Amino acid sequence: MTEDLIAQAKAILRRNDRGGYTVPTHGLYPFQWNWDSCLSALGFSHFDEERAWTEIDTLFANQWPDGMVPHIVFHEEDDGYFPGPEVWRTGRPVPTSGITQPPVAGFAVRRLVERARNPALAETRARALLPKIHAWHAWFHRCRDPQGSGLVAIIHPWESGRDNSIDWDDVFERVPTEGVEPFNRRDIQHANPSHRPTQAQYERYIWLVQHFRRLGWDNSKLHDASPFQVVDPGFNAILIRSCTDLADLAERFGLAEMAEQSRQLASNGIAAMDTLWSDAAGQYLCQDRTTGALIQSPSIAGLLAGFADIPAPRAKAIAKRLAALGEQVDYLVPSHDPSVAAFDSLRYWRGPVWLIVNYMIADGLFRSGESVIAQRIIADSLRLIERSGFAEYYDPHTAEPCGGDQFTWTAAIVIELLSQELTPA
Ligand code: GLC
Repeated sequence: MTEDLIAQAKAILRRNDRGGYTVPTHGLYPFQWNWDSCLSALGFSHFDEERAWTEIDTLFANQWPDGMVPHIVFHEEDDGYFPGPEVWRTGRPVPTSGITQPPVAGFAVRRLVERARNPALAETRARALLPKIHAWHAWFHRCRDPQGSGLVAIIHPWESGRDNSIDWDDVFERVPTEGVEPFNRRDIQHANPSHRPTQAQYERYIWLVQHFRRLGWDNSKLHDASPFQVVDPGFNAILIRSCTDLADLAERFGLAEMAEQSRQLASNGIAAMDTLWSDAAGQYLCQDRTTGALIQSPSIAGLLAGFADIPAPRAKAIAKRLAALGEQVDYLVPSHDPSVAAFDSLRYWRGPVWLIVNYMIADGLFRSGESVIAQRIIADSLRLIERSGFAEYYDPHTAEPCGGDQFTWTAAIVIELLSQELTPA
């Protein structure tokens, strides 16, 4: 069974390989996506280390001069996706979008180095990538935390990787739709419209893109100019974990200054993260940076926070919360609390289970010694695959496979889970 699943997963990675980068899936997402690539590299690393490094190298070859790593790289023309390069107009040599995505590269590169069967290759590739990842982290703190709070904000829901989360609903009311140029969505031609973001949400996504475009994609202006500024605990946890992992790698390779700066960013982040904790919710919550208020919306972001080295009592509370959610669904982890009225078990990030997030939550829980619940998350993830194949995401009650199929990062995480014992670092 295991062998067979690994073989199927490898075939998906190969099929979605466009030479130097993978597409997330045929049709729906025909370009390179940022965090998809970093997580997919983990899958490749078990059977083709060279290819794993190349996946991340290709992404970073498209880093912006200011340090940002864009969320999409449009390597080839394809009119099957909206919004394409003609909407973003970022003026990059290879067209890219103008926003970023969860910075999981530092974590992924550390994993690749630690498990390298070819340490010389790993050292060469990691040494070339480290300064670039460090520049991206510095960009985040400079451009997305201008007040030096220790936590960064996202300025577009797509940056979170959780496009249509319930977390954004109230803040999104502040984003206007006047002046949005007419557009033709392509996603609903590839996937079931009732599983996708709504038209009203799409208009706001595009309004923000047009707004940033008018500001010339100048990252010294975009944060303050955005009506959408949200501090997402899951996103910040990924950044903090990547800073910690980068610090360890920098130490290993004798890069003392990078190690010290990364360590400092991580510890500032951990300290500041506590401002997002809610005793009432029993988890971390997003914060609306414009008003300073916590967003009372119990989503998976506040559980993914455990991917960073948060204090032990917080990790314990998250484990408890997950155990309670586990009584409400058959498959952990739903992307939103099912007891909330807006929960929707089929609509993208408003309820369904995503394997990549499961993987990161479980990894963090193992590090904190919360192995019982971490094991359940992994067991649930594998049951989903056995039952429903390598989908983009799944209904947490029925295991119905949703969105795109033959999905690259889902396949990569299956290889990752089945090829190694997921144990504390
Ligand atoms: C969707 C997801 C995002 C992912 C992308 C490509 O936009 O919300 O997280 O990176 O698809 O798979």
